[in-house]
Amino acid sequence: MEQIKACIFDLDGVVVDTAKYHYLAWKRLAQELGFEFTEQHNERLKGVSRMRSLEILLEVGGLTFPVNKMEEMAAKKNAWYVEYIQKMTPEEILPGAKELLEKLRTNGVKTALGSASKNSPLILERIGLKNHFDAICDGNSVTVAKPAPDIFLAAAKALNISAEYCIVFEDAEAGIEAAINAGMQTVGIGNPQILSRANVVVPNLIGFTYNKLVELFINK
Ligand code: BG6
Ligand code: MG
Repeated sequence: MEQIKACIFDLDGVVVDTAKYHYLAWKRLAQELGFEFTEQHNERLKGVSRMRSLEILLEVGGLTFPVNKMEEMAAKKNAWYVEYIQKMTPEEILPGAKELLEKLRTNGVKTALGSASKNSPLILERIGLKNHFDAICDGNSVTVAKPAPDIFLAAAKALNISAEYCIVFEDAEAGIEAAINAGMQTVGIGNPQILSRANVVVPNLIGFTYNKLVELFINK
């Protein structure tokens, strides 16, 4: 790419480690329904919407329910999840995330949130990062979830920057797909085997800088 004008960040698993709370809440639901739900199963839930997550979970358990019952289950899971995230503090910001957001702005790069979570406003408030983003797009802003590109396109639009100048930071396979579908470059956070379609994969954001992005993406 020629220039980096914006960086769009997924929230769960990139800025904060809420993935563990999502997992705990889904596991609790699976236990109530009488089946085991492993961390490996949980990978498939990362980045996808609440209802789609429930569909996948029920598929794992080999169960089907009518829509109204599923809505009840999703609400129950969310109530448990909210119990966990309500206790969050700024200490739970993943190492390097805040520093990177600040460095990007210092270098004239816009920042946006692009998360599938309807709980994003609560989380950002608990960890005190709301003002680190020039635009916030979350599960309340779009109806079509990742891997559709909608959330990232909405973020780019809110920043008034075209997709070719955007880099997306994602920890989920569905999120990397969404960014590719949006025509954006990607940094995967986590396991290179799971995030094999990302342009580059790093284990975490510790020490990640604007200069590193330039090195990785400019004129590549
Ligand atoms: C994503 C998570 O960020 O948000 C998914 O990776 C989750 O696991 C999705 O299902 C929706 O979150 P919420 O908070 O609206 O249930
Ligand atoms: Mg995520």
